[in-house]
Amino acid sequence: MTVPSPMDDVRAQYEALPYPPRDPRDEAIRLITGTPSHVLEINHYLFSGRLNFMRPFRALVAGGGTGDACIMLAQQLADRRCPGEVVYLDISTASRQICEARAKARGLRNINFLTGSLLDLPTMPIGQFDYIDCTGVLHHLPDPAAGMRALASVLNPDGGMGVMLYGEYGRSGVYPLQELLRTLAPMSMALEDRIAMTKRLIRFLPTTNLFRRNPYLNDHVTGGDAGLYDLLLHSCDRAFTVPDIGAMAQNSGLRVVAFLEPVRYEPATYMSDPIIARMASSLPLVERAAFAERLAGNLRNHVFYATRAGFDTVARPEDTSAIPVLREMDAQKLAAGLQPGTPLIANLDGFPWRAQLPALAPRIVSQIDGRKTVAEIYTALGAQGGLPQWEDFYAQFEDLYVKLNGVNHLLLRFRT
Ligand SMILES: C[S@@+](CC[C@H](N)C(=O)[O-])C[C@H]1O[C@@H](n2cnc3c(N)ncnc32)[C@H](O)[C@@H]1O
Repeated sequence: MTVPSPMDDVRAQYEALPYPPRDPRDEAIRLITGTPSHVLEINHYLFSGRLNFMRPFRALVAGGGTGDACIMLAQQLADRRCPGEVVYLDISTASRQICEARAKARGLRNINFLTGSLLDLPTMPIGQFDYIDCTGVLHHLPDPAAGMRALASVLNPDGGMGVMLYGEYGRSGVYPLQELLRTLAPMSMALEDRIAMTKRLIRFLPTTNLFRRNPYLNDHVTGGDAGLYDLLLHSCDRAFTVPDIGAMAQNSGLRVVAFLEPVRYEPATYMSDPIIARMASSLPLVERAAFAERLAGNLRNHVFYATRAGFDTVARPEDTSAIPVLREMDAQKLAAGLQPGTPLIANLDGFPWRAQLPALAPRIVSQIDGRKTVAEIYTALGAQGGLPQWEDFYAQFEDLYVKLNGVNHLLLRFRT
């Protein structure tokens, strides 16, 4: 008799309940874009904004599921006529079929579909990749670090990864409930009965229960039965702190270059005491992010980019030939909403973030068209008159950049 391995249980789950649920017919009405693996982010954080899309680009989407990252990336590369390919890999054939149907609905021909485990990558004749997406997968492996090492084994020396892992503090309440459900709805029960029992338990939780007190855990509401199963009945699931992530990346020969959205990982976001904020802000990236996560307490998922390259891979605004690019936003509409004195506001899962923008913000934003460099924006504004000296303009641009990049609206690229 063969004993089922932890991976068999995980595969069985995603064969029965591909996640997240997606209907290929929706491709006709929208492209789902997200983080990580948006092509503008990959370029900005891993290739200093200098990717040349005329050159072949190979990406792997490991644990591609129903296809959100795979479809987004394949579509964005196709839109740029990039002669590259996206390799999709997953252990679940049901998930693969959904992603294949989505690709067909879009007429995408740059995806190579494979079924298999990412743990086998080191021995697969699959070649090396410039970029690897692995979103919501490694935390479902019995040994996530082995998964990370397997991914790193097929990454080009200058390549990078975009990863999403569950965050320990923001998932407070999940694990005690998973424990309760191991008694109430064990794996031996039929899937529908496990789901029914979970819904029953949630309905009757006491008001003091940590899961009930965490209003930001909502996959069981927004993701239907597949979301509920993924959140509370998963057979293999653990969460990570920022230091765990730094250590795991380092053990695979990788270096974390950014956590997204950046503003969530800056201690000063949550700390109004200037002395504490200044002390924490001077820490190196991973320690600073760890400080922010402990302060905030609400980071449910960690999205990060990591590289193998030994040089700085993040695009920086100091170079005046940088081209600011807005993500899925209309510059004129954004500019109209940024009237002087009106702060930029974001709700960071319950934390109300406000940032005062520089006086020139609306005028600068109105010039961002994804083609003009910072220097060209200055020239274009100069033609309208009433512009300050370059130094003052640049200081205001940088201030605006830090804030809009912080909430992931603004990225940089360079002409190649
Ligand atoms: C929560 S889903 C995430 C899917 C997708 N990455 C996304 O973010 O939408 C996890 C996926 O990882 C796949 N998976 C789990 N273990 C795997 C392994 N060892 N190798 C490849 N895929 C795996 C599952 O089949 C499932 O489709």
